Amino acid sequence: MMWQKPDPNNGLGKDQIHVWRTNLNRPFQDAHCALPCLADDERARAMRFHFDNHRRDFIVARTFLRSVLAHYLDLDRTQIKFEYSSYGKPALAASRRGAPLFFNLTHSHQLALLAVTEQAEIGIDVEFIRAVDEGIAERYFSRAEVACLRALPGELKNEAFFNCWTRKEAYIKARGEGLSLPLDEFDVSLAPGAPAAILAVRNGEEASTWRLEHLQPGPGYVGALAIRALKTELKFWDWEWPDGGTETLIQDG
Ligand SMILES: CC(C)(COP(=O)(O)OP(=O)(O)OC[C@H]1O[C@@H](n2cnc3c(N)ncnc32)[C@H](O)[C@@H]1OP(=O)(O)O)[C@@H](O)C(=O)NCCC(=O)NCCS
Repeated sequence: MMWQKPDPNNGLGKDQIHVWRTNLNRPFQDAHCALPCLADDERARAMRFHFDNHRRDFIVARTFLRSVLAHYLDLDRTQIKFEYSSYGKPALAASRRGAPLFFNLTHSHQLALLAVTEQAEIGIDVEFIRAVDEGIAERYFSRAEVACLRALPGELKNEAFFNCWTRKEAYIKARGEGLSLPLDEFDVSLAPGAPAAILAVRNGEEASTWRLEHLQPGPGYVGALAIRALKTELKFWDWEWPDGGTETLIQDG
């Protein structure tokens, strides 16, 4: 998986998925100054965070999202308008003309990933790998997934847990129905080294119509991407905040 510096003219091909990566650990002052670039509801949400670092991550992630979408739409990032599904999934406001542009954002431990495509609804998830209590798997994973996890040697369990978690989240996020979609209604692969796949769906969906991709966003992280489109080319870009502090974070499109 090659994360590349973006070519300023990198257009989004019809069959492509572009995955962008950025570090949210920006100076607090930059995030504070970027606040006016957000919509009223985003600003209100930012102000509701109790901890400064959570507020900073939200503002920087939204600035990243707006900046990347503005790049494809040839707009100023303040002109991007979102609407939300009843489960909270953001999409571009329907008033926009042109081909649909699907996207999904995720962040964990100061790293954010954003997937953008014209193909179909998409879901992406990233997690920082940390120690977990095995009881969590029993609560959230399907019977087949728990059995597979139990059969793995101890040193692989943690990575396998987060493979499973991010793959399930990516699928849920592509479907956009949040946790109203029962987590035991589908099985994903999880063994480290085995290909990412949706192995079974028990709600009438066809597992074979989904592409599930394992992502390596950086040391200590694992990620996954899900889309109901099989013939897609993946490209990986590193979003770079221009040096020079607050002004560039605010003004750079
Ligand atoms: C909200 C949810 C979609 C993702 O939550 P998450 O994993 O904590 O957060 P992520 O960082 O991956 O994604 C958050 C982003 O997804 C997008 N999003 C919000 N609601 C969404 C939805 N219903 N569907 C898809 N994307 C959604 C937003 O862009 C959001 O960013 P924002 O917080 O800046 O608005 C939902 O799946 C959830 O509540 N998960 C809880 C975790 C869980 O129990 N997982 C079980 C896995 S086995």
